[in-house]
Amino acid sequence: MSQNFKHYSQYYDLLYKDKDYQSETDYLTFLISSYLPTAKNIIELGSGTGKHAKLLAEKGYEVLGLERSSEMVEIANRTVNEGVSFKIADVSNFEQEQSFDVALSIFHVISYLTENEDLINTFNQVKKHLNTDGLFIFDVWHSPAVHAQIPEKRVKRLKNSDVEIIRYATPVIDAERNIVEVNYLIEARNLHNGQISTVEEKHPMRHFGKPEIELLAYATGFKLLHCEEFLSKVPPSDETWGVCYVLRKK
Ligand SMILES: C[S@@+](CC[C@H](N)C(=O)[O-])C[C@H]1O[C@@H](n2cnc3c(N)ncnc32)[C@H](O)[C@@H]1O
Repeated sequence: MSQNFKHYSQYYDLLYKDKDYQSETDYLTFLISSYLPTAKNIIELGSGTGKHAKLLAEKGYEVLGLERSSEMVEIANRTVNEGVSFKIADVSNFEQEQSFDVALSIFHVISYLTENEDLINTFNQVKKHLNTDGLFIFDVWHSPAVHAQIPEKRVKRLKNSDVEIIRYATPVIDAERNIVEVNYLIEARNLHNGQISTVEEKHPMRHFGKPEIELLAYATGFKLLHCEEFLSKVPPSDETWGVCYVLRKK
C-alpha cells in the first residue's frame, strides 16, 4: 500500500491552513442541493484530516469518510463531531453495508489513482454504494491546464507556534501516462528545541480531460451531468487546474 501522506500528514493542516474549507463546503452543498435536494447521507473518499466531512455534518448531512492513510484518520479523529465518522480504507476496494445519496472525493483524490484498474474499481465501488440517482462529485487535475502551464518547482514556507517548514515540490512529468510525479521535500524546524527534520514523499498525480472522464463514467454506469472549475464555477479551460465533475448513477 502506498506510503504517501504517512509523514506528510503531520504538516498537512499547516500546509493548507489558508485553504477555505468553509467556502468549499458551501460550494459542495450548493452542487448537492442543485442536483439531489433530497440527499441526506454522504460517503467521502479520501477524507484526509476530515475538514470537509465535519463541515458537511454541521450542515446536517450524515457523513462517512474513507481514507487510506491511518495517520490522516488519526488526525481527523482528534475531535469528535456529531454525524461524522472516519474509517481506514482504500477507495478502490472498500465495502460498506450502508448505501449513500452522494459520494464526494475532493482535492484531487481521484488524481492519486494513476492506474486504470484502480480508477475503474473505484468508480464501480462508488456505483455499488450509491442509492438510485445518487451523485458522484469529485475534482481532478485538468490535462489542458497541465499541458499549457507545465508544472514547475515550487517552494512554500509556513509557520505556526511549534514549527517552521519549507516545502519544496519538484515535478517530474510522465507525458505518456498523463502523470506528474510530485516529489516533496519538507524541512521542518522545531521552534521549541531548534531540531531540524526532513520528510520526503512522492505523490504521483494523474490528470484527465473531459472525454476521458466521460468515457470512464459511461463504462462504469454513470452519466456526466456537469463539469466546471472547482469553486469558481467557470467553464474548464487551459487555465483550469482543478475541474469538478458531477456524475449521476444511471
Ligand atoms: C490532497 S489530500 C485531500 C484530503 C481531503 N479530501 C482534503 O480536501 O483535505 C488526498 C487524500 O487522498 C487520500 N488517498 C489517496 N489515494 C487514496 C486511496 N486509494 N484510498 C483512500 N484514500 C486515498 C490520501 O491519503 C490523502 O489523504
